[in-house]
Formats: sequence, structure tokens, C-alpha cells
Amino acid sequence: MRIVLSDTYRDMSRRAAYIVASQIILNPRSVLGLATGDTPLGLYRMLISMYWAGDLDFSGITTFNLDEYHGLSEESPYSYHFYMKQNFFQHINMKEEQWHIPRGTTENVEEECRLYDRAIENAGGIDLQILGLGVDGHIGFNEPDEKFEGGTHLVELQESTIRANARFFPSLEEVPRFALSMGIKTIMKAKKILLLASGASKAGAIYEALRGEVIPELPASILQLHPDVTCILDKGAASRMEAAGDDLLPKKYTS
Ligand code: F6R
Repeated sequence: MRIVLSDTYRDMSRRAAYIVASQIILNPRSVLGLATGDTPLGLYRMLISMYWAGDLDFSGITTFNLDEYHGLSEESPYSYHFYMKQNFFQHINMKEEQWHIPRGTTENVEEECRLYDRAIENAGGIDLQILGLGVDGHIGFNEPDEKFEGGTHLVELQESTIRANARFFPSLEEVPRFALSMGIKTIMKAKKILLLASGASKAGAIYEALRGEVIPELPASILQLHPDVTCILDKGAASRMEAAGDDLLPKKYTS
């Protein structure tokens, strides 16, 4: 586990963009795992700028998103399909057949999940998976549970996640209660993982995920067992580790 500290959200996004850009430059046929939410927005903006500057080419890239709300159509402005098109895909040279997001309106959830995992395998697996972190320690929509979930599956969202995500919807009642999400096994199979966290609201979850026990009640804690994780934190997200003088942090922050 590598921890990179950034003073600001912008700096965190810039460093993350360099890592994703290197992946794409070194392997123009990379398979990327993508996240939604607030955290990766700055990263997407920087990657778009690099594309417009002529520094990145997405024409050989394949992507798989972590999750989608169950019941939301691709056209819904609250769907992750819409988010990804709006915030990333429509600004770069990626065709529709290059990106994949679970279909929230599928009539056969089990089949959709099985085919999603198979598509990832057929693409050769994920080279670099980008992750955000929920305040309850979720990654993708893998909520605290009694066991780690395997492949892509249907998840019942926790009240805390519904409340946290209500900011994207007109009202709390309109937040879907279920989602399709890559499972922990799918995420852990990625060759490299880039975990981003910003803001003091994530400080507790980051501390538990990186320093606590590896338990399904804190799904992100499983990342301690992955051989190649880079975690970029801004000051707020690192504040609990910093207060504990944690030796995982680069020295200048703990001395
Ligand atoms: C989104 C996802 C979620 C978010 C997490 C943090 O695709 O998989 O795990 O990364 O809920 O969300 P933000 O970034 O909005 O704080």
C-alpha cells in the first residue's frame, strides 16, 4: 500500500490523473475500472484536459464502471450512465462500445451481473481500478456486511449511503434503494487499485480501512490484502491518520 498526500482536492485529482495517464500511455489498450460520485470528478476533468492538449488517446481503452442504480434508465439524469457521459465519455475519444456500466433496468439482474463479470474477464481483467470511499467504508456499492461479496451482484443500499447520495437527487425518497455493483472479488482481481479520498468526512473510514482489521463490516479494509494499491488522500481525509501519527504516512506529515 502506497499513500500519497495532497494538500487539496485539486492536488489529489492532479496526482491521480498522472497515474491514470501513465497507465494509458504505457498501455494504450488498458482496461480501466471507473467510479462515480464527487471524488473522481476532478480526476475526470484533468484527464479531459490532457486529452484536449493532445497528450492522451482513449481510442484503445476499455472501461468498466463499478456500479449503477437498480431501476434507473440510461437516460435518467440521476443514473451513472448519464453521469459518466456528462462528466467524461462525451469529452474524450471513446466510442459507446468501449465503455461498460451495469444496466439498471435489466429484467434479469442475475444474468446481467454474470455477463458483466464475464465481459471483464473477456477484456483481460481490469488493469487499473479507480475507487472512491463511502463514509461507512463501502467501495463500489459493497456495503458493510457479514461477508465479502464475490462477483457483480444486486445490493440493498444502507440508510447512510441513501442519505449521502440524496444530494444528487431531487429528494431523499427518489434515491433508489438497490444498485448493481461489482463485488469485492471483482475489485480485488484488478491488477492495480487507485483509491481516492477527500475531506474530513472520510477520515474515519480511511483510518479504519487502512489501519483497522480486515472485516466485511468495513469493506474497504480488504484493500490491505491487495498487492498494488495507491491511496491518494487530501489533508481532510488523512486527518485521523495524521492525528494518530501513523507511520504509513509520508514523514513530513507525521514529524
Ligand atoms: C461510485 C461508487 C461509490 C463512491 C462512494 C464515495 O461509483 O462506487 O463507492 O465512490 O460512495 O462517493 P463520493 O465520491 O461522492 O463521496
